[in-house]
Amino acid sequence: MNIEISNLHFAYPTGVQALRGISLTIESGEQVAIVGQNGAGKTTLVKHLNGLLQPTSGTVQIGDWNTKEHSVAKMARRVGYVFQNPDDQLFSKNVGIEVAFGPRNLGMNAEQVQRQVNEALAMTELSDKTETNPYDLSATWRKMVALASVIAMDTDIVIFDEPTTGQDAANIARIANVIKVLRERGKTVITITHDIDFCGENFARVIAMSQGRILLDGKANDVLGQEDVLATTYVDPPQLTRLGKRLGFKETVRNEEEFLAGLKK
Ligand SMILES: Nc1ncnc2c1ncn2[C@@H]1O[C@H](COP(=O)(O)OP(=O)(O)OP(=O)(O)O)[C@@H](O)[C@H]1O
Ligand SMILES: [Mg+2]
Repeated sequence: MNIEISNLHFAYPTGVQALRGISLTIESGEQVAIVGQNGAGKTTLVKHLNGLLQPTSGTVQIGDWNTKEHSVAKMARRVGYVFQNPDDQLFSKNVGIEVAFGPRNLGMNAEQVQRQVNEALAMTELSDKTETNPYDLSATWRKMVALASVIAMDTDIVIFDEPTTGQDAANIARIANVIKVLRERGKTVITITHDIDFCGENFARVIAMSQGRILLDGKANDVLGQEDVLATTYVDPPQLTRLGKRLGFKETVRNEEEFLAGLKK
C-alpha cells in the first residue's frame, strides 16, 4: 500500500504555515526516518497520513484512499500512529485493556484480539504488566505501552513520532527490535527522530525537513553524508558518519557495520 502525498500545504488556524508544498511517495514496505529541527513540520506531516489533520491544499493518498474522503476511525485500519507524547494517547486503567482497545475497535473477534495483544505485549516486553495501570509505569515504559497499542492493530503502515526520546539504551534497543520485526513483516514504518545515530542504524531512507519543506530525501547514506545541508536544519550526521569522513573513507558510512567495513578497506 503506497503513500502518495502531492503538493501538500497546511496552515494551523493560528495562521502558522506548517507545511509548504510537500510531495512524496513512500512505497509499501519502506522504512523511512524523518529528521529536522524543532518546528520543521514533521509531526504536522505525519498527522496527515491518518486524517488527524486535513490538507489546506493538496492531497494525501493511502493506497486507494484519499484521506479527505475517509474518517480518522477508518484511516486507522491502514495507518497506526504512535503519538510523540504517550499521555496524549493512553486512557485505559490497565495495560491489557489499553492494548486491546485498538484491535477490538477495528472489529477483530475475541480470539484475534487476544492474539494481537499477546504478540504486541511480547514484542515490547510488557507481557508481565497487563494488569498494571499505565500511569503507575515510568514515562519510558508508558511509551512502550503506546507502541504496543498501535502494533496490536496490525496496520500496514506504522508511524512512530520520536519513539526514542527520553528512553534509556535498553529501551532504544527494544524499539529498534520492534522496527526490525515490522520490517521483516513487510510493514511500512515511518519514524520521526532527533536521534540521528538511531536513524543511521535503523533506516535505509531518510527525509530531512526544514520550515515546512523537504530539504533532502533519499538513501540514508546519501542524505546523512550531506553535512552542510543538514546543518541548515540543525541535524548533525551520526558520529560514525563524521568519524568515517575524518578518517578519509571514500564512501559515507552510517552504522557500526559499515564503519568497520570502511576501516578494513
Ligand atoms: N496545534 C498547533 N497550533 C498552531 N501551531 C502549531 C500547532 N502545532 C504545531 N504548530 C506549529 O507548526 C509548526 C510545525 O510544528 P510541528 O509540531 O509539526 O513540528 P515538528 O517538526 O514536529 O517539531 P518537533 O521536533 O519540535 O516535534 C511549528 O511552527 C509549530 O509551532
Ligand atoms: Mg514533532
